[in-house]
Amino acid sequence: MFLSLIILVIILFLLLLLSMVWPPDSPWAPWWRTNTKTAEVICALAKITEKDIIYDLGCGDGEVLIHAGKIGAKGVGIEIDPLRVFTAKARIMRNNLSKKILIKRSNFFSEDISKASVIIVYLIPKTLEKLIPKFKKELKKGTRIVSYVYEIKGLKVRQVDKKNKLRLYIL
Ligand SMILES: C[S@@+](CC[C@H](N)C(=O)[O-])C[C@H]1O[C@@H](n2cnc3c(N)ncnc32)[C@H](O)[C@@H]1O
Repeated sequence: MFLSLIILVIILFLLLLLSMVWPPDSPWAPWWRTNTKTAEVICALAKITEKDIIYDLGCGDGEVLIHAGKIGAKGVGIEIDPLRVFTAKARIMRNNLSKKILIKRSNFFSEDISKASVIIVYLIPKTLEKLIPKFKKELKKGTRIVSYVYEIKGLKVRQVDKKNKLRLYIL
């Protein structure tokens, strides 16, 4: 009994280590998330106000949306991983933001994002590249896009915050 518990703990620990090397986009990589400080900087960089509608594509546990909701903005988080959807919903409820922030369990490629005034992404370059046609087709002129860590090759960058690994794009 004790030995099987030790083995289980070792397996869980190895999975956690492995999750650090999986690409950040993967539902198996919970390690990669935006922290509170960066979420604040993202909202400041995108100049988010209560008039904005934020779409976080692959919203994880909803950190950026929670901060945007506290500013007064509305938001939609689209997340494919059920565990992270559950966590994001629980956090939104705990912060009394259920009237402002909606979390959808879905693939963002099949969702309409045309209502967004701000898009937030923390996704690998290959996925960002695939999103460009969707951005160009669905988003209004003037929509701000903030990408954390990775560059969106193919869109003209407006502002770079090297320290916080953030890039702002305006369509
Ligand atoms: C690096 S994490 C970022 C999470 C969150 N945005 C943050 O910054 O804390 C990327 C997230 O995108 C999600 N994801 C990847 N591809 C997706 C897709 N096609 N549709 C919805 N979510 C996706 C993953 O499950 C993961 O939670």
